[in-house]
Amino acid sequence: MADNYLEKRYDAVFGKKTVTKRVGHTLDELLLKNRSTRGYNKSYVVSRNELQQIVAVNTKIGSGCNRQVLRFRLVTQGEEATKVLDNIKMGAALPELHLPFPGTEPEAFIIVCSTMEENKLVDIDLGMSLQTMMLKATEMGLSSLIIGAFNKSKLKESFALPYEPVAILCVGKGAEKFELVPIKENESHSYYRKNGIHYVPKVVLEDLILS
Ligand SMILES: Cc1cc2nc3c(=O)[nH]c(=O)nc-3n(C[C@H](O)[C@H](O)[C@H](O)COP(=O)(O)O)c2cc1C
Repeated sequence: MADNYLEKRYDAVFGKKTVTKRVGHTLDELLLKNRSTRGYNKSYVVSRNELQQIVAVNTKIGSGCNRQVLRFRLVTQGEEATKVLDNIKMGAALPELHLPFPGTEPEAFIIVCSTMEENKLVDIDLGMSLQTMMLKATEMGLSSLIIGAFNKSKLKESFALPYEPVAILCVGKGAEKFELVPIKENESHSYYRKNGIHYVPKVVLEDLILS
């Protein structure tokens, strides 16, 4: 907005902001830490309150036509968690590993549902919601994984969900090591593991920007 209108208006209404030293993470730090995690430390039990804090980001983010069609079912450690785990698929690029490794399974989940049939706007909302929830989890010292590969009908039935489930977010204390690998756009995008490190290829900036 022209002339820092909002900042000036804020100062007029709330008084001039005092400059405080930043505590916490920059966005770049959060983005680097924010890796899709398929192995968790089960000695840390994620609480319902933590899942609620993560879902709360949805009260602040954008939404196509501001329709806000997403709804969230929280699942914490116990029988319900097993029901989710039995119906999701992890690590399709590493089928030989049969992830997650026994003893490192996620035990907390956010099942994301849509009150209307999926379309472009719903899917954009979904992506924004999932990514923002992942960043919130990262900020809280937790890790997460988006699951798009799951048995929709089984999940809908076993949780008696009133709406179509469209994605699942696994949440927990991460127990994996990661490294990003810069790649050219024509190199393999598949993630891989070597000596206990999960490598994630990312296309370099020069190849992302169209000339
Ligand atoms: C829309 C979407 C769906 C995904 N579905 C799955 C999934 O079903 N199972 C899985 O193991 N990973 C899934 N992932 C995680 C991707 O494999 C992961 O984002 C990718 O390997 C890059 O790793 P990074 O998130 O650490 O950058 C999904 C990610 C997105 C964005």
